[in-house]
Amino acid sequence: MRHRDIVILTGAGISAESGVPTFRSDDGLWLGHRVEEVATPEAFARDPAKVQDFYNQRRRQMAEVQPNAAHRAIADFAARFGGRLTLVTQNVDDLHDRAHAETTPAPGFELIHMHGELLKAECTATDRVLDWTEDLDAYHDSPFSPDGWLRPHIVWFGEFPLHMDRIERALSSCDLFVSIGTSGEVYPAAGFVRRAHMAGARTVELNLEPSLGASLFDACIHGPATEIVPAFLNSLDTNAWPNADSRA
Ligand code: OAD
Repeated sequence: MRHRDIVILTGAGISAESGVPTFRSDDGLWLGHRVEEVATPEAFARDPAKVQDFYNQRRRQMAEVQPNAAHRAIADFAARFGGRLTLVTQNVDDLHDRAHAETTPAPGFELIHMHGELLKAECTATDRVLDWTEDLDAYHDSPFSPDGWLRPHIVWFGEFPLHMDRIERALSSCDLFVSIGTSGEVYPAAGFVRRAHMAGARTVELNLEPSLGASLFDACIHGPATEIVPAFLNSLDTNAWPNADSRA
């Protein structure tokens, strides 16, 4: 089957080989912090300096990391694919953006950051968003309102993911759903495979190891993203379909 309408979902695993830490490691900490300490509106209200500092460190790290072969393989695929391709990322890094900036995506391509972007800041009073590359202070003046300050443009636990209407439209019409480098632990993204399956799409997981929802996919390929993503996308050109459970 030649696919015409593809949704790719990516998570932290695709950026791991660029040097960006994933979220869920064996010790259950993100860069030494418990999630509730840094990624909730309550944490920001309680200790804005700590939360800003956590994201300041991650924002600074963006200057030190580069897109890897997996990001570039998706960008190359987006440039040659003739159908509709929706790339939904849970990642707040800008590695997909940079990889796609090196190519010319075909007209049917769209990139959606559903959990926000590290290189943007948001006014707490107006919700307006602006590009941001510097550190943010605990109470950083907002250029949009004297009643607000700037916070990271990141979806925290307890907040709604962004652009869900566009994502729902893409999932309801896709004929192939590919999940790359995500543990399947965080909803709504973890439920996308079921939504795509209901729409009649084939579903495939590309991950270092079986994710929590691996059994929901029609096929799984396990290995490092920089190896399995280019190989899988090249196989779409030749119409090959992976074996049900293959390993790189
Ligand atoms: P996780 O850290 O939960 O999962 C990363 C997945 O990537 C794991 O299943 C790893 O096995 C896999 N992985 C690691 N290295 C890999 C590699 N080199 N190649 C392929 N796979 C690899 O990250 P996410 O699933 O993205 O939300 O986490 C989802 C959300 O949880 C994040 O977007 C974040 C967090 O709460 C927000 O910031 C709102």
